[in-house]
Amino acid sequence: MKKILVLYYTQTGQLKDIVNSFISGFNSSLCEFEIIEVQPVNSFPFPWTSDTFFGAMPDSVLLKGTELQPFNLKHSNYDLVVFAYQPWFLSPSIPATAILQDSKVKAVLKNTPVITIIGARNMWLNSQEKVRTMLKESNAKLVANAALVDKAPNLVSVLTVMRWMFEGKKEASENLPASGVSEQDIYAMKAIGEISQQHLTENNLSSLQQKYIEQKAIEVDANLMFVEKRGGKLFSLWANFISKQQNKVLWSRIFKWYLIIAIFAIAPIVLLVYGIFFKPFLGNSIKRQKQYYLEMN
Ligand SMILES: Cc1cc2nc3c(=O)[nH]c(=O)nc-3n(C[C@H](O)[C@H](O)[C@H](O)COP(=O)(O)O)c2cc1C
Repeated sequence: MKKILVLYYTQTGQLKDIVNSFISGFNSSLCEFEIIEVQPVNSFPFPWTSDTFFGAMPDSVLLKGTELQPFNLKHSNYDLVVFAYQPWFLSPSIPATAILQDSKVKAVLKNTPVITIIGARNMWLNSQEKVRTMLKESNAKLVANAALVDKAPNLVSVLTVMRWMFEGKKEASENLPASGVSEQDIYAMKAIGEISQQHLTENNLSSLQQKYIEQKAIEVDANLMFVEKRGGKLFSLWANFISKQQNKVLWSRIFKWYLIIAIFAIAPIVLLVYGIFFKPFLGNSIKRQKQYYLEMN
């Protein structure tokens, strides 16, 4: 019997659906699951107000974490830990960071294989780098990563995610598609669960990520990678700056307008220039960078 610990936080329930679909692929006679959905002591409101949403940026980026409602782990070691999380501002969400900073969790992560499952809009590369670092600090062994995203074009998914986050409306409207990870992609996580189960019972987790790549449970888009790499550095500068200001609300509002202009005006122009003058000549370098994010070592 393999002991599997599943840890996650979810605000809208999307990640819970993803996790449940993944788990449904496992054979329950071979595995014992312990599933913990954490709750912050001070919960984040949903739908968000503009101030609370953009106000969450500095703590997300600076990996501040937050106090979680108490939870206990049944065992002192597990055969596998599944850590599911969502990015906030190109970093793990504040509650997700808090999970990885919890001393009980850190203790069980030591020398334990970990699968990460991401439920994002479409930008998760930076957050996974931060998660990789935190897992490494706990001496965990990251064996696989599945990243589920909203597959609508980038600017469309920005609009739909805003409607979802600020109005609570995830479903399609007359002019816009539904927001979030598609039902189909959530359902497909069952097959990823089945494959993971096989590799776990055969003690062959080291080749699991290759299967995730083949199954397209993880994909890297070159344009989004280009935008996100630059965005990650800029968010760090903003987060450090705002965290030192007296009037954080004012500066978070200025950051909001910066972000809107960056997403809708600057990024499309920069991407156009990149696409015409640089991308055609950078084939090998882009391939190498993509490979880095797809693989675990
Ligand atoms: C404050 C905030 C910031 C977010 N930032 C990002 C981001 O940087 N990249 C991304 O792909 N998705 C981002 N999202 C979307 C989330 O990753 C996630 O898909 C969505 O909030 C649903 O997650 P849930 O499981 O908590 O309901 C953000 C959401 C919130 C609330």
